[in-house]
Amino acid sequence: MKTEELMNVDKEFLPKHIAIIMDGNGRWAKAKGMPRHYGHYEGANRVVDIVRASSNLGIEVLTLYAFSTENWKRPAIEVNAIMKILIKFIDDKLDELAANNVIIKVLGNREPFPKDVMASLEKAIKKTENNTGMILNIALNYGGQQEIIQAVNKAIQNGKEVDIDDFKSYLYTENQIDVDFLIRTSGELRLSNFLLFQSAYAELYFTSVLWPDFNEEELYKAIEDYLSRNRRFGGL
Ligand code: FPP
Repeated sequence: MKTEELMNVDKEFLPKHIAIIMDGNGRWAKAKGMPRHYGHYEGANRVVDIVRASSNLGIEVLTLYAFSTENWKRPAIEVNAIMKILIKFIDDKLDELAANNVIIKVLGNREPFPKDVMASLEKAIKKTENNTGMILNIALNYGGQQEIIQAVNKAIQNGKEVDIDDFKSYLYTENQIDVDFLIRTSGELRLSNFLLFQSAYAELYFTSVLWPDFNEEELYKAIEDYLSRNRRFGGL
């Protein structure tokens, strides 16, 4: 499907919330005889492309899994490279994102991040908080089970029974719409602790394409697949 064709699809049929597990950076780099961080670097360029394309399509929320609670176990050199790439992404792209009315949010516990990364993230959140366009959630030090547990603890502290909507207000996504479409690249068929509560009725899409090769065309292909699904939410 071409951009113009997708642009003409009634917004009601497009996924409102797309979530992506950006996997395969390491393998992409290895296949090119390059260090793993080169894959993350090129992966950040796809982040720019996919954010732009999603915002142009009128997607309401885009959530990207950039760093899981388990990723700290990776060698320091790789963790540091991802931190540097995050800072560079914000340094280079914040003005464009802000001008495109994007709202940047971070899902996850920010505390363990180095001061410079924190400062960069805070700057991005602050600069875009009054925007009204697409929400870009960057999941960082994120774990779905951890998110649910912290929400349960908040509910307990409040001392009142909760229903589903109350509970959603305690999640990092704070009352955002649920995930409609969850994409994972690189051929792995797992959720890996990503948005477990929010993806209850999400359509799943797995592609063998590695994240640094997941360009706009691949996004449109995925959305075309989504458009062919018959979503019933448990009904008939
Ligand atoms: C998974 O591939 C990817 C990551 C753990 C990091 C994702 C980070 C980025 C795309 C860059 C920064 C993000 C933003 C939002 C600017 P992998 O390393 O597990 O790949 P492999 O499975 O091939 O080893």
